[in-house]
Order: sequence, then structure tokens, then C-alpha cells
Amino acid sequence: MNLVFLGPPGAGKGTIAALAKDYYQIPHISTGDLFRSNIKNETELGKQVKSILASGGLVPDEVTIAMVRNRLEEKDAARGFILDGFPRTIPQADALEGMAKLDAVVNFVLADEEIIKRLSGRRICKSTGRTYHVVFNPPKKEGIDDETGEPLIQRDDDKPEAIKHRLEVYAASTEPLIDYYRKKGLIVDLDASKSPEEVMRQLASLVKA
Ligand code: AP5
Repeated sequence: MNLVFLGPPGAGKGTIAALAKDYYQIPHISTGDLFRSNIKNETELGKQVKSILASGGLVPDEVTIAMVRNRLEEKDAARGFILDGFPRTIPQADALEGMAKLDAVVNFVLADEEIIKRLSGRRICKSTGRTYHVVFNPPKKEGIDDETGEPLIQRDDDKPEAIKHRLEVYAASTEPLIDYYRKKGLIVDLDASKSPEEVMRQLASLVKA
């Protein structure tokens, strides 16, 4: 099963992918997580993209496409994948066509007001990437990761100016992909405003394992 999760920042793609990877038994490949892990490990790629991520802009297509191509060649992706955050531009979608045949493109639909609430309340554990929300999914102890006991942080790109920029970038560069994939008959629309469990139930009924 080869799936793409498409949708605005903060729509819950990463949250649902964490449930869907077990349900479909396929790896969750998030380009945002791959970039953040390179930044944390201070690789050349990490140094190159650090300020782009902090501002909420897009990493150049050729860099992102090469990274995804390498990742899809790893053994675990042979049985399928959930691509979360890729493609994000038409050139990336064209490049993906040459890498794999998709079964569905899941379009997470959520209003801007809800996106802003979700992103401004998101907190993450820097070492594991585990995601929380101060209201919708709080940790057991305020500000502390449930498993590692480390303090939770706010992503640089979840600050108000970067959120605004990410929404503009999404509208200009990524939203056109909805039409691109609808014309190919691949789009599955998901109402992302419900609880994570409900969104996962919707997905399972629309995209059969
Ligand atoms: P990336 O990490 O992909 O960011 P994004 O697409 O903006 O997605 P997010 O991770 O912000 O949101 P999400 O939809 O996964 O929501 P989440 O589940 O966390 O990319 C970051 C950056 O990397 C980009 O800006 C760009 O610079 C670069 N990049 C990445 N891919 C690229 C590409 N292809 N090309 C170029 N550059 C690229 O949920 C959000 C919050 O809501 C959480 O707090 C969560 O707890 C809460 N929540 C989730 N679901 C629910 C629910 N159902 N109900 C209530 N709360 C919920």
C-alpha cells in the first residue's frame, strides 16, 4: 500500500500516520521529521535547511526529491509507505510518479482557525519527536515527555509569524496538488476535525488495508 498524506500544516498528518503505520503495517516517512533529524545531528543537509524550516519556507525541490528517493530505496519501503509532507509541489509530485505507483492520496481537510489552535498548542519531545498538544493531547505531567521525562519544546516554526508563512506557502505551492491528484482519481477526502481515533476510523473505512 503506497499512501500520500496531503494537507495543511497542523492538520494531524503526523498524528494519524502514527496510528496508520500500525494499521497498514507500512513505514511512516515524514520529510519534516527527516529534515529535523538532520538538523539535530548537525549533518551537512541539516545545516543547509535549518533556517528554511525555522521560517516555514520550503526546502528546494531537488534537495527534497533526492532525500525521498534515497529513503524509498531502503528495504522497509519495499512493502509500501505513508509519505507525510511529500510531495508539496508539482515538480515533487512529477518526480514521485517515477519512483512509485500510488494507491491513494489522503487529503486532510481542516479550517484555518482550527489549524492555528493546533499548531500554537503543539509541543514536542526533541529527542523522540513525540507530539503533544497543551489542550487536545496533554502529557501526564505538564511540559514533560511521558516516556523519556525530558522537557517538551515548541517547534521554531510553530511561532505565530512562521505559522502565517506556512499557511501562505501551503496555499500557493501545495494546495494545487489536490486538483492534480483529483484528476488522477487518487484523492480521498478526510474530515480532519474529529478526534484522532475518529479520523483513523474514517481512513480505515475509506482506504481498505
Ligand atoms: P512538516 O513537519 O511536514 O510540517 P507540516 O506539513 O507543516 O506538518 P506538521 O508537522 O506541522 O503538522 P501535521 O499535519 O503532521 O500535524 P500534527 O499531527 O503534528 O514540515 C516542516 C518543514 O519541513 C516545512 O515547513 C518545510 O520547511 C520542510 N519540508 C517538509 N517537507 C517538505 C517538502 N516536501 N518540500 C520542501 N520542504 C519540506 O498535529 C498538530 C497538532 O494538533 C499536535 O499538537 C497534535 O497533538 C494536534 N492534533 C492532531 N490531530 C488532532 C485531532 N484529531 N484533534 C485534536 N488535536 C489534534
